[in-house]
Amino acid sequence: MADANGDLRARQRDLVRRGYDSISRAYRDDEGRSNPGKPDERTDHYAGWVDALAQLLTPRARVLDLGCGAGVPATKLLTERTFDVLGLDISAVQIERARELVPGATFDQADMVTWDHEPASFDAVVSFYALIHVPLQDQRNLLPKIRRWLRPGGYLARSLVRSAGRELRSTSGRRCSGTMPTARRISPGSPRLGSSLSGIASCLRATSVIRSS
Ligand SMILES: C[S@@+](CC[C@H](N)C(=O)[O-])C[C@H]1O[C@@H](n2cnc3c(N)ncnc32)[C@H](O)[C@@H]1O
Repeated sequence: MADANGDLRARQRDLVRRGYDSISRAYRDDEGRSNPGKPDERTDHYAGWVDALAQLLTPRARVLDLGCGAGVPATKLLTERTFDVLGLDISAVQIERARELVPGATFDQADMVTWDHEPASFDAVVSFYALIHVPLQDQRNLLPKIRRWLRPGGYLARSLVRSAGRELRSTSGRRCSGTMPTARRISPGSPRLGSSLSGIASCLRATSVIRSS
């Protein structure tokens, strides 16, 4: 069946790309700190997430950072853990900064929805606060691809957000722990992308690790 909304979703993702091209430096400074106008949005918790993941992996493990942003703090922390990291981001500005700030990693500028990679080539995929920007239908198509990119027994670590009054159902219709990506909140032409992003950041709740079979 033809994908009737594919063009709309591509435009939504492109809006996100343009948004991050514009706000890259406001979102993260070169040290990986959040916008100074939002002192409550700290980034010191990333180290704990990377430490937790590191306990599951061996040194030199191959890690894909989906939606890596400017590479700080997450990609940098991962490379400091001696992992072999590929960072992927749709925003050219984010990737340009990431290449400068994290020379120990490799980066690609691409849309994670259309990007592909050889199967079973990563020990872990991390995606901190990035899947939340991907339209829900695209996430349904993306998750099986992530699973394919992972080696058997590999890990996916990703952040989701909690959204008041709504719940996420899996494709089989089962209820999934009350978390809901907020990509739908960003619509093409929205003049308020910056504030949408702030809204997402302030309602972040869960980061968890899933092991593939
Ligand atoms: C909230 S930022 C998080 C950046 C980084 N992971 C962090 O935690 O600091 C979300 C990032 O995801 C990227 N992104 C959003 N949609 C994407 C897509 N479809 N493909 C690749 N990257 C995407 C954005 O450009 C942005 O850099």
